[in-house]
Amino acid sequence: MKLTGKTALVTGGNRGIGLATVRALAQAGAEVHFTARSSANLAAARRDLGETPATGHLANMTDRIAMATLLEHGFDILVNNAAVIGPIGRILDVQVEDWAANIDINLTSAFHATQRALAGMVAKGGGTIVNISSGAAHRPQEGWSAYCAGKAGLAMLTRSVHMEYAEQGIRVFGFAPGVVDTDMQGAIRASGINPVSKLPRASLAPADEPARAIAWLCTPAADALVGQELDIRAPDLRAAVGLPPLG
Ligand SMILES: NC(=O)c1ccc[n+]([C@@H]2O[C@H](COP(=O)([O-])OP(=O)(O)OC[C@H]3O[C@@H](n4cnc5c(N)ncnc54)[C@H](OP(=O)(O)O)[C@@H]3O)[C@@H](O)[C@H]2O)c1
Repeated sequence: MKLTGKTALVTGGNRGIGLATVRALAQAGAEVHFTARSSANLAAARRDLGETPATGHLANMTDRIAMATLLEHGFDILVNNAAVIGPIGRILDVQVEDWAANIDINLTSAFHATQRALAGMVAKGGGTIVNISSGAAHRPQEGWSAYCAGKAGLAMLTRSVHMEYAEQGIRVFGFAPGVVDTDMQGAIRASGINPVSKLPRASLAPADEPARAIAWLCTPAADALVGQELDIRAPDLRAAVGLPPLG
């Protein structure tokens, strides 16, 4: 129980990697809070969590007032997980409004949550922020211009937070979770637009693998890696977390 006494907020914690992260952080002993953007999603997450202690909050990431109010709680850990993949389409085929909506959720809202969380973390002398990144932050994929640009921006935000606040005890990581069997990958498969969409579902990783790694990053065991953009596919990281080597 390495995170006993710590409080954590996972954005978009009602399904997928976010939900698995809620479980992993709770198993590590943290007091876990998560956001969902509808009461139906909140109720479904509660059912999925069963006996796992965690508190759900209704909040859309883009709702600045709701997120600022929630983050006044002063969490020790923030996992910026909530994100959308769309609009999926080549640049001439997507609408600028949809593109901007992706950037608002995946980047601007993550910046806002980071900013509001940092205020409390700096006041109490430390905290951990994990920004859920992607291979798409570093390599373009056909049809994903908004997603790639947003994740690339988030990777730079990770570096900016490290540069400005590491000395004040802020531990920040970018973490690419691999190709994981979630609804997001279902939408990607349905699009058929690029090589990622052609990956068979059976080849995707279970969400509890990145979740275990995220919880590990929140412990002092990961101190040597602060400020970095990490990828779950790195053999050294997998070994440190206790995940099996990739075949
Ligand atoms: N799955 C992969 O292979 C993969 C690979 C690389 C990176 N990632 C990253 O991993 C993270 C989790 O992805 P996932 O695969 O678990 O995705 P997912 O199954 O699609 O879940 C996304 C979560 O984000 C929430 N969300 C989206 N927009 C939101 C908003 N405006 N406000 C609040 N919550 C919002 C969703 O809430 P609703 O239920 O309300 O929609 C849901 O809880 C994302 O950052 C994603 O980019 C995933």
